[in-house]
Amino acid sequence: MALTGIDAITFGVHDMEAAYRFLIDWGLTERLKTPERLEFTTQDGGEVIVRPHDAPDLPPAIEEGNTVRQIVWGVASESALEELVSRIASHPEYEAAEPGGTPRLRDPNGLGLAFRVKRRQPVKGNPTLPNAPGVTHRLDQRSPVYTQAKPLQIGHVVLFTADYAAMRAFYLDVLGFIVSDEYPGHGCFMRCAQRGGHHNQFILNRPGRPGVNHVAFTLNDVHEVIGGGLAMSRKGWKTEIGPGRHPISSAYFWYFENPLAAPLEYYADEDYCTEAWEPQTFERRPELFAEWAIAGGIDGTTRRQVIKGGESDRGHN
Ligand SMILES: [Fe+2]
Repeated sequence: MALTGIDAITFGVHDMEAAYRFLIDWGLTERLKTPERLEFTTQDGGEVIVRPHDAPDLPPAIEEGNTVRQIVWGVASESALEELVSRIASHPEYEAAEPGGTPRLRDPNGLGLAFRVKRRQPVKGNPTLPNAPGVTHRLDQRSPVYTQAKPLQIGHVVLFTADYAAMRAFYLDVLGFIVSDEYPGHGCFMRCAQRGGHHNQFILNRPGRPGVNHVAFTLNDVHEVIGGGLAMSRKGWKTEIGPGRHPISSAYFWYFENPLAAPLEYYADEDYCTEAWEPQTFERRPELFAEWAIAGGIDGTTRRQVIKGGESDRGHN
């Protein structure tokens, strides 16, 4: 019954125009713009939906301000959806699909979840291959310089959990996620299928205060993370932290403040896990968030570190 990943995500925001400008600059493809609804897509067809925060049909917000209101997880087929429904139908928060709609659930944080046969299409990235003495992946070919990111997919979401044990049990036992790595009692990196990127979701203990930590978009490689981040900086968007590199998951990252929710992240080159992946446990420490990182970001025009940039206290993914 493996889920296939985040098929769509809905944000509820206070400023639709600001959200629109950000998503255009972020490199998503515009599909619909009305005062009540924005629709954008990633390259694989993943949907980013934006609605006014007080739209009456949105699931309730789990925190104040702009935030994620619903995540739609994909499944591979109609039969997989039926199997999933048979597993979750007895859950007290389950809502059966209305005609043409999707079955829904709330996680223990209260976040709205929905499930559908995936609409995303397989996408093949084009990462720059490395060269080293004796290993020549890139022959007679220059390495690219990106001037704009174009996200391939919605890669993962990170949630602050009001009740860590309940959230961990819900995603592992009810929805079948698999632990990739863990801070015991504090944080759990999980993937929704045996084979896939290191995490589609990470939950982080914050007793009594549910929320969204960040939402992450997958790029081709570190060069697109840098070029895309510089482009966002040039357009005036403020770095939360980055560029940098996570030691857990191995990914390169750059986080930006934005008018949609908690920081949004560009990332690339995460570990790919299979049945043979060996989860590890780590003690939660700030240095495990980043092997290296630039607080305040890099100025898009001067291409130099913003020396007086905001000091981030982020100490986790
Ligand atoms: Fe992330």
